[in-house]
Amino acid sequence: MSSPLLRLRESLASVLQFAPLEFRPLQRRLRRSVSVADMRRLSKRRLPRGVFDYIDGGAEDERTLNANCDAFAKVRFRPRVLQGVGEINVAGRVLGETTAFPFIMAPTGFTRIADPQGELAVARAAQRAGLPYTLSTLATRSIEEVRAAAPNARLWFQVYAWRNRELVAEMVHRAAACRYEALVLTVDTAVFGRRERDLRRGFSLPPKIGPETLIDGALHPEWTLSFLRSEPIRFANVVGTGVGDGSSPVDLAGYINSQFEPGLSWSDVEWLRSLWSGPIIIKGIQTVEDARIAADFGVAAIALSNHGGRQLDDAPAIFDLVAPVADAVGGRIEIVCDGGIRRGSDIVKAMAAGATSCMGGRAYLYALGAAGEAGVDQLLATWREDIRRTLALLGVSSFAELDRSYLSTF
Ligand code: FNR
Repeated sequence: MSSPLLRLRESLASVLQFAPLEFRPLQRRLRRSVSVADMRRLSKRRLPRGVFDYIDGGAEDERTLNANCDAFAKVRFRPRVLQGVGEINVAGRVLGETTAFPFIMAPTGFTRIADPQGELAVARAAQRAGLPYTLSTLATRSIEEVRAAAPNARLWFQVYAWRNRELVAEMVHRAAACRYEALVLTVDTAVFGRRERDLRRGFSLPPKIGPETLIDGALHPEWTLSFLRSEPIRFANVVGTGVGDGSSPVDLAGYINSQFEPGLSWSDVEWLRSLWSGPIIIKGIQTVEDARIAADFGVAAIALSNHGGRQLDDAPAIFDLVAPVADAVGGRIEIVCDGGIRRGSDIVKAMAAGATSCMGGRAYLYALGAAGEAGVDQLLATWREDIRRTLALLGVSSFAELDRSYLSTF
């Protein structure tokens, strides 16, 4: 007969289970990065506050920033059951080519502030995942460096209209020479949005280490050491062109307002087309009227976007634009839903509403800040699995079977 002590030990053994302790810091961070919210929390802890706020923040009261995410949270699914789903196909089609799932990595300037590898890490992760990556004009790795790091990736180049048109033309030619597939013209930045978190902190790019940021830097020694050790952060695409490459700290608002062309108009789209024979995507469309004009212009795609709520506060939530725009121009032009995507299920919602693909920036920046390149790999793998599971639970086996009847709001 067993003693009470022995019985207690046996019953404890039957219910206790300890996961092996993980002492490797990167592996520990990856294990904790189950969702984008986890990655955001971790990157908030690892990055200096000014850097985190630059990534995380939006314009003015951040109503549009929040509305982008809330719009996804508000819509409910209408799952169908007993549909006999077997093999699930999560593939998407972007610019007529297959992608692993319908997602494009958005352009984000100054990516090296989140991780020393910056744009190279994101482009490599996109290549491994089978997704297009858009390099920003204001990237901290050049057009050529990114192509060398990801020789087989589908790379797109994002264009801002500089006052200096020759500079734009030269960048476009470099992108063509490096086999970039498409140009993304960002049209929501006639002037710079008022990012109040950055103003409060006096944030500059590259971040400067001064009296106010010294303590912040000291509290984040890993970031600070790697920032000080790595080569200086610059606007890598404009080094040596005389427009200011960011090698000394700039106030981004002043820089953009002095360098970018506020008078950009539809005729400049024609000008861009005269420089580039490949597809052009217009990023920053926020009304049905402008979506119609873009379709009439015959561009390949529009990205419905408010710059992640970083430009005009109180601009519409992006998800809410998808259905009316799809009704107006669907079938004539690809429609990319850009803003507020934090889960694979958000991608499924956008596709059900009528988008042909999705785009996003902060999610991969949080992943990069939380766990570097491996973090981005993990994010994309998680989303792929999210999409597979969501489609299965909705009772469909591919995006082709999805329509608005699977969403509660239509
Ligand atoms: C951006 N975005 C952006 N867009 C662009 O066309 N050129 C750029 O250089 C940048 N830079 C940039 C930096 C940072 C830190 C962020 C967060 C965003 C906007 C970006 O491409 C995309 O539109 C938004 O990120 C989409 O919203 P989510 O996915 O961040 O919610």
